[in-house]
Amino acid sequence: MAILTKAPRGTQDVLPEQSAKWQHIEKTAMKVAELFGFKEIRFPTFEHTELFARGVGDSTDVVQKEMYTFLDKGERSITLRPEGTAGCMRTLIEHGLLNGALPVKVSYLTSCFRYEKPQAGRLREFHQFGAELVGAASPAADAEMIAMVSQIFDQLQIEGIELEINSIGCPECRAKYNEALKEYFHSHEEELCETCRGRLERNPMRILDCKSPICHKIGEGAPVILDYLCDDCQAHFDELKERLDSIGIEYTVNPTIVRGLDYYTRTVFEFVSTNIGSQGTVCGGGRYDGLIELLGGAKTPSIGFAMGIERLLLLMENTGVAFPEESTCDIYIGSMGTKASIEAANLVNSLRAEGFKAECDLCGRSVKAQMKYADKIGAKLSCIIGDSELEEGKVKVKNMGDGTSEEVELDELIEYVYEAGLGEIYGTLDSVLNDGISNLKPLNIPPEINF
Ligand code: HAM
Repeated sequence: MAILTKAPRGTQDVLPEQSAKWQHIEKTAMKVAELFGFKEIRFPTFEHTELFARGVGDSTDVVQKEMYTFLDKGERSITLRPEGTAGCMRTLIEHGLLNGALPVKVSYLTSCFRYEKPQAGRLREFHQFGAELVGAASPAADAEMIAMVSQIFDQLQIEGIELEINSIGCPECRAKYNEALKEYFHSHEEELCETCRGRLERNPMRILDCKSPICHKIGEGAPVILDYLCDDCQAHFDELKERLDSIGIEYTVNPTIVRGLDYYTRTVFEFVSTNIGSQGTVCGGGRYDGLIELLGGAKTPSIGFAMGIERLLLLMENTGVAFPEESTCDIYIGSMGTKASIEAANLVNSLRAEGFKAECDLCGRSVKAQMKYADKIGAKLSCIIGDSELEEGKVKVKNMGDGTSEEVELDELIEYVYEAGLGEIYGTLDSVLNDGISNLKPLNIPPEINF
């Protein structure tokens, strides 16, 4: 039955050879976030449906068309998170994290679920790295978040990604803008899709990000929010631009960015690439000054972003960005006979305790088959222990790269492995012991920061 051996549409398996790339992206993002003072937060994969209906907005495409919602066995309506911000804010409110020192800075790596039409860069289960800066109203916070995204892209050595910014105002200027939109869209009412006709009175801004090509085309002639900003929102936007200029972050103002989620106010931004097809937005974010209050907390102005890991990976692969070398085996210790196999197991465990990647035979294979396996897994060194090696306490260690061999005392094997050049890859023995990911190529981050 194909259903047993085929993943559901819109999901993606990450195979071992791909996962090193994922880890590289995730670790880099989390490390940069840490430099900016962010701490990791984790929250549930599913929430009460009401949280998203309210938080994300019940006239958005995400809530109206894309949520994975079901009744659990207790008849509660549950939804798999379509995005991270609402659940993250629920967590902060529930645990009183907003009652202490502000701003609170949290970052997360999560899977998200949206029932969308799958295509390159658009999945039904996808992954985000997100960050939320909660409790800061100043444009300084907006600039800081944008700088953080830029820094992550710089560290990943991604080029050709454009920042587009906009302001979608506050409820005060939005009210006037909505009136102008209603007037405009009423004159095209007959041509709008059914969903958008329903949105016309309640939330006309949502028509601007409808995926229907006809609604999209009509939206191109609609009034733009930037012409309706109140003085405070205009000043906020101007200061953000000034700050971005001053830290040297290039951007374009794109007045058509409205974002697909209802909670945004004032600043919105997207990092876009033309190298990954039609789903070019790699990262999106903005300010959401009213969300926490809407969910029952105190008014807490906030800003955040999320980047899609699959889109980021696609972009890096399409543009030939280098990834760290895949982690392989440092030494394979083969054996002949049970006694030698037990000794090999002891040796690999001692090596692992010192931070080396060591493997031994677990299948009772012939020596020839063991050597073939050592080669296949990319072992840098290999040796075979038999009765005579055990008796003499020495073993021939083969450098799998150049084929040369050297005789080594068994009780000096760890020092040998370290000195056989692997130390150069890993840095000091201390860092080998303390840092499980030290084989990643050094990044551009200041040298004192040890990945
Ligand atoms: P979003 O724009 O809906 O914003 O999603 C953020 C990013 O997730 C997108 O830019 C894209 O890279 C990725 N993404 C979205 N949908 C899919 C999909 N179906 N397949 C693959 N990747 C996708 C949010 O989710 C907000 N919570 C961001 C935010 C945080 N705003 C403030 N704080």
